[in-house]
Amino acid sequence: MTESKTATLSLDGKTYDLPVHSPTVGPDVLDITKLYGQAGVFTHDPGFTSTSACESTITYIDGGKGELLHRGYPIDQLAEKSHYLEVCYLLLYGELPSATQLEDFENRVTNHTMIHEQMVNFFRGFRRDAHPMAVMTGVVGAMSAFYHDSTDISDPWQREVASIRLIAKMPTIAAMAYKYTIGQPFVYPRNDCDYATNFLRMCFAVPAEEYVPNPILSRAMDRIFTLHADHEQNASTSTVRLAGSSGANPFACIAAGIACLWGPAHGGANQACLEMLKEIGSVDRIPEFIARAKDKNDPFRLMGFGHRVYKNFDPRATVMKKSADEVLDLLGVENNPLLQVAKELERVALEDPYFAEKKLFPNVDFYSGIILEAMGFPTSMFTPIFALSRTVGWISQWKEMIADPTGKIGRPRQLYTGSGARDYVDIESR
Ligand code: SDX
Repeated sequence: MTESKTATLSLDGKTYDLPVHSPTVGPDVLDITKLYGQAGVFTHDPGFTSTSACESTITYIDGGKGELLHRGYPIDQLAEKSHYLEVCYLLLYGELPSATQLEDFENRVTNHTMIHEQMVNFFRGFRRDAHPMAVMTGVVGAMSAFYHDSTDISDPWQREVASIRLIAKMPTIAAMAYKYTIGQPFVYPRNDCDYATNFLRMCFAVPAEEYVPNPILSRAMDRIFTLHADHEQNASTSTVRLAGSSGANPFACIAAGIACLWGPAHGGANQACLEMLKEIGSVDRIPEFIARAKDKNDPFRLMGFGHRVYKNFDPRATVMKKSADEVLDLLGVENNPLLQVAKELERVALEDPYFAEKKLFPNVDFYSGIILEAMGFPTSMFTPIFALSRTVGWISQWKEMIADPTGKIGRPRQLYTGSGARDYVDIESR
């Protein structure tokens, strides 16, 4: 970043010069680091809608243009020409790998896909009807109890090992969470399968017969992973950064990110979207729900629509929509009533002036939910798949923060509107 300009704040008859930093691309940022020390005031931005929380070189989003770049490469090109593990390398190390570098990276990930056998007992402590996100939050947090040799964040080599372990083991943990809730035996990863195929095998194979996923489904799965890999300073990534700023180990930080992603306004939206489609039930009930979404007195929102940053379209959704059509054609489920409702809801919402004015359009979660439903995943597995995909984004952002020598613990302040100081009143006098 460059410090090219200065902004002047005038307050209570005094003026304060604030440095303005210019990014490679995107809005300038007003540096208020010294504001409280100079002027004795805080800034106030509860949803961080106008706040830059860090400097980063990983992902750039232009909400107006519907642009998403990973280390400068547009998401539509990566989704079309690359694959998830190559995108993982790009996010982690900043450049596209050579053939040799990619082979070495994929081998390292492949050879870390199994989890410590003792962790199998950890799964057995959950109820069978536990939500897979609850299992993932617990099991990933517990990884710091099994992999002590990669929890020292001051050691770059341990940070690297923890990163590889998390990327490699997330599909295994997510698949085990699914198998456990449906009462089927765990399926171990295989080193002769690519990342996406391995995950589909661990979810859908059973000991009783061979299972080889259709390559179109493996490709669609890999594309879902790529489209969810990273997304700037979203809520769960900001959670991981804040947890990491205290020096917490990487497994604990990623567990915090999983917990935040679970929320229906964030990563839980794809599950909430399918549940909404089930609630709508049939095409003729769509107008009723569209009216509810417009009613200010009704808290109902169209899940899978809208975005904090994208105010025209979500570039990931464009790619995901294409994948959805491929998968539905392959599986011949275009007559599935749920998917019929989804397609009609998309058409109606996109034509409705209300949603156009509010910049509400289908986001990445709308289409990913449709693909995962068509693939046979229960809705409870949608967010675990999002968490699996986003692990590389979380850990890349965490590594960037930890490696910053100027980093300090995140500690926001507040606008206090509670009671002023007052003396304790004995209970007899209340
Ligand atoms: C993800 O941050 C990220 O990058 C997230 C993510 C990532 O990759 O990490 O992209 C993943 O979380 C995608 C978003 C998934 N969430 C949903 O699909 C849930 C439904 N969407 C909404 O909850 C909402 O759109 C948000 C949370 C996504 C965005 O909220 P904003 O930008 O804070 O929008 P807002 O709440 O200020 O709404 C603006 C207006 C409001 O009306 P007014 O008060 O101006 O009259 O639009 C309305 C809202 O009522 N609105 C909706 C709506 N979303 C916003 N109305 C109906 N349905 C909706 N979905």
